[in-house]
Amino acid sequence: MNPHFPRRHLLGAAAGLTLALGGSAALAQADSVKIGVILPMTGPSASTGKQIDAAIKLWVAQNGSKAGGKKVEVIIKDDAGVADTTRRLAQELVVNDKVVALAGFGLTPLALATAPIATQSKTPMVVMAAGTSSITEASPFIVRTSFTVPQYTQAVGEWASKNGSKKVVTLVSDFGPGFDAEKYFGDAVTLNGGQVIEKLRTPLRSPDFAPVLQKARDAKPDTLFVFLPSGQGAQFMKQYAERGMDKSGIKLITTGDVTDDDQLNDIGDVALGVVNAHHYSAAHNSPANKKYVEAFMAANKFRPNFMSVGGYDGMRLIYKALDTSKGAGGQALLDAMKGQIFESPRGQVLIDGQTREIVQDIYIRKVEKVNGQLWNIEFATLKAVKDPGKLK
Ligand code: PHB
Repeated sequence: MNPHFPRRHLLGAAAGLTLALGGSAALAQADSVKIGVILPMTGPSASTGKQIDAAIKLWVAQNGSKAGGKKVEVIIKDDAGVADTTRRLAQELVVNDKVVALAGFGLTPLALATAPIATQSKTPMVVMAAGTSSITEASPFIVRTSFTVPQYTQAVGEWASKNGSKKVVTLVSDFGPGFDAEKYFGDAVTLNGGQVIEKLRTPLRSPDFAPVLQKARDAKPDTLFVFLPSGQGAQFMKQYAERGMDKSGIKLITTGDVTDDDQLNDIGDVALGVVNAHHYSAAHNSPANKKYVEAFMAANKFRPNFMSVGGYDGMRLIYKALDTSKGAGGQALLDAMKGQIFESPRGQVLIDGQTREIVQDIYIRKVEKVNGQLWNIEFATLKAVKDPGKLK
């Protein structure tokens, strides 16, 4: 025992030290904010999780871990594409981790399952992937940086009917975004004097395309229109080719979800010449996109797809909103998200202050081979497209 420092003084000093540490730890906590991201990192939609996760990491690598004067911590959770899991994880992120924002949401049912939690806890919820129009109406705290399916299905429906499609069969995935695709493509065709002669749907889980491809062929349309969620394009196109549909004389028109940059080279030459519409192509010709694709490929060794830009722009949205709110969450953070305008790798975008919906250019593209690789080459642009689902 040191005679100059009796035991009780040592204890006192130790206690003081603990208190001081506790104090600085608490301060550090107040100086940081957490963003809770829920993605399907496993399961049938794992490519969406992989793409958005990579884009978020790229954003942080390029922009650092500070926003609104606070340290930003991103927590990424895997819901495997199961809505009950998404809801539970969102609850835990809000209650235990006290996240300032929720983000991600790889499929429509996952976003809809979380909407009540965003509303009740007043936590801004950034939808980076799912595309059913009605999602932003499920909570006043939802803001979307991905796309709405009506934005591009209406566009490609108009293009198709003005370019010879008069007798059409639609084939969509049997859930929210598929219903939007069927309706908005079909309405555009009908309004332009064409006809939808058959509407086909395949289940979201483990779809078998053989029976619907046979039905489509039997109906003898001039055009087959297809919407399937990201991750299913390669399997669909394989079965399409196996059945010789590419030689049937029926024109194939799709959305960019089918000619997904994540799978396009695996799909192969059967995709050549397929006209489709979407909001993002890795081949988009702008300096901002060239920079994005280069950095993304260098970090990941795979091509960014349309899901990735929803994640990258979603991070920008949250960072800039935190700058404006000085790190505050809730209504202040939500308000700072509304009305943001910025240049995305996809082109100029706006977050509509009224609808909390992304307004963006929609491109009509054709799959072409450039330097031995397949790309969606944009050849027509519809400027600043609002969600047609909100114009009712
Ligand atoms: C959706 O669930 O809303 C969704 C998922 C994948 C897509 C498009 C829409 O490619």
